[in-house]
Amino acid sequence: MLKFVFTKTARYPGLEVEHYQIMRNLRTLLVNFKYRGFLMTLLGLAATICGKAKIPFLQEYRFNKQNLRESGLDTDGIVEPAMMDIPDEFRASACRYEAASDYEFRHVLERLHIDYSAYHFVDYGSGKGAILASAARYPFKSVTGIEISGALHQTATQNIAEMKRRDMIRASSLTSVHSDAASYSLPAAPHVIYVYNSFGPEVLQEVLDRISEDLCNVTEPVYFLYNNPMHHNVLEERPDFHRMSKSFGGKWLIFVRPGNSDEFRKAG
Ligand SMILES: C[S@@+](CC[C@H](N)C(=O)[O-])C[C@H]1O[C@@H](n2cnc3c(N)ncnc32)[C@H](O)[C@@H]1O
Repeated sequence: MLKFVFTKTARYPGLEVEHYQIMRNLRTLLVNFKYRGFLMTLLGLAATICGKAKIPFLQEYRFNKQNLRESGLDTDGIVEPAMMDIPDEFRASACRYEAASDYEFRHVLERLHIDYSAYHFVDYGSGKGAILASAARYPFKSVTGIEISGALHQTATQNIAEMKRRDMIRASSLTSVHSDAASYSLPAAPHVIYVYNSFGPEVLQEVLDRISEDLCNVTEPVYFLYNNPMHHNVLEERPDFHRMSKSFGGKWLIFVRPGNSDEFRKAG
């Protein structure tokens, strides 16, 4: 239990991302207060403590169950690559499906202080669409998820239909695309890119090469939000992107390909 609070984790063996567990937990608590309110956060905290102590009580209030409980969308569960309906050549590089935290994402996104309506948002490895649902709360020009598993893409499509039915979408468009990440082309326009440790370093490199090529004439900044940044060294080594900030004790790294617009000068 104490280890859960105080450890400075070597969470990424061999990849030196310093990950301060206490900073992460404090930040998680703060964003829960910010987005979830006082009572629900206290319930979440009690549920997390029960979970760590292996007491099956208040489970549905746990911080990591927030997407399912509060949005009503089907984003729950873990799907390992071995169980995924994906071509064999992608199996070794693919990471498992697991939804990210809506609150972490919103906190990181809002700290960019950008005009969302000037940007497209793309999630490479979007799974069942948990973060597509989060991003679609903001007035992006478009929100697009690229997902290699047909079954996960199918669930994302159903979630999008449910969001439309409930009028939950502020972005101008919201789409899940069934494709491998490196084959997807971006329109030449400003982008916020998001990856939750979806794939290995080779695929990440291919995706970044493609982004650079597709967006070579874009003069606005391109943001890259990397959640659980296992292969951050791929980004650190690129001359076009540089690290802008980190959040949640290093669990999120934010990179930017600088632009030359006024907005970037303000955000930077
Ligand atoms: C950790 S989940 C992230 C889900 C979602 N983005 C989120 O943050 O909640 C990673 C996803 O990447 C997908 N994936 C893995 N390799 C991929 C590839 N080459 N192209 C597209 N998607 C991929 C997996 O199927 C999985 O759904």
